[in-house]
Amino acid sequence: MAKRIVKVIDLVPGRAVELPSIGNEKLEHEKFWHDFVCPQQPIVIRNAVSNWPALSKWGTKGYLEALTNHQVGVSDTFNASPAGLWHQNLPKYRLDEAITCLRNAAPDETFAIRSLPIPPEWKADIGGYDFLSANRDLPPRAYARDRLFIYRNASTEWHYHTTDETLTTQILASKRISMFKLSKENWQAYAGPIRSNLHHMNDRARFFPADQALTKFEATLEPGDVLYIPPFWWHGVDPADTEFGITLAHCFRTPLNRIGSLSDPAVKDVIRAQGSLMLALRMRAFVALGSLSRIVNP
Ligand SMILES: [Fe+2]
Repeated sequence: MAKRIVKVIDLVPGRAVELPSIGNEKLEHEKFWHDFVCPQQPIVIRNAVSNWPALSKWGTKGYLEALTNHQVGVSDTFNASPAGLWHQNLPKYRLDEAITCLRNAAPDETFAIRSLPIPPEWKADIGGYDFLSANRDLPPRAYARDRLFIYRNASTEWHYHTTDETLTTQILASKRISMFKLSKENWQAYAGPIRSNLHHMNDRARFFPADQALTKFEATLEPGDVLYIPPFWWHGVDPADTEFGITLAHCFRTPLNRIGSLSDPAVKDVIRAQGSLMLALRMRAFVALGSLSRIVNP
C-alpha cells in the first residue's frame, strides 16, 4: 500500500497567483536591494546559482557520501513547525548512510534531514549570489547563516521568519512554494487556525474565512533558482516531484530600518509569543530601535 505523503500548500484556502520572477542577468545589486529587500517583496531569481559545482556534482550517487563523517538526525515525516524537542530526539545516523538511504528510498517514502550546517568538505561546491553585494551579505541576527535541507517527499509546514532575509536556493529536485502576507484585518483569521493545526483537518474550510479572498503567491523552483523570502511572509513548501532533493537556505541580516513596527500584527504576535517578560521587553526594544532608525534613515 502506498504511504501517505503530506502536502501543505493547498491546506490553506486562497486564490493562487504566480509569484514574480526575474532572470539572474537582469538583477543588479541596487535593483535587488531597492526593489525587493527594502520593500520586503519576494522574488524568484531564475538560474541564479546554475554555475555552482553542487548542481552538477551532488546528484551523483556516492559523491556526497564520500565527503562526510558527520552524525545527523533523520525524520520520516514532513518538516513540522516548530521543530522543537521532537526534532532533537530523532535517531542519529552517519550522514553518508542517511544520504544513501534517502537516495534509494521508494517514491512514496518521506525522509528529511533538516537545518544541517554545510559540512566543510562540501563548501567548495557552493558559490555566491551575483545579485547580493558582499557588504550587504551580513551575518543574520537569529537564524544560522546557511542551513541545508536534504529530503525525499518532505514538505515544510506553513511558517514565517521574524527577522533575517532568506535566499532559498534549490540545488537538487524541484519544489513548489506558496507565500502570503497577512494584514491587521486578517491576521487572526489565518494565523489562528494554522497555529492550531486546524488546516490539517478534513473539514478545514470551516475554520477559515469563507470568502477565500487570501492571495497566495506561488512558484516552482527548479535547480539553480533562488527565492528571496522577506520576514513576516508566511510560506509553505511542497516538493514538486518525488526525487532526492537538496535546498540551501542562506540568510543575511535585515537592515535595521526595515525591522517591523509595533503596530504590525505579526510583530505583536511575536512579542506575545516570547517565553518570558525579559525576552518580550528585549524584542520591544529591538523593534523600537528599528522604528527610530526608519525616522533617521527612511
Ligand atoms: Fe522558512
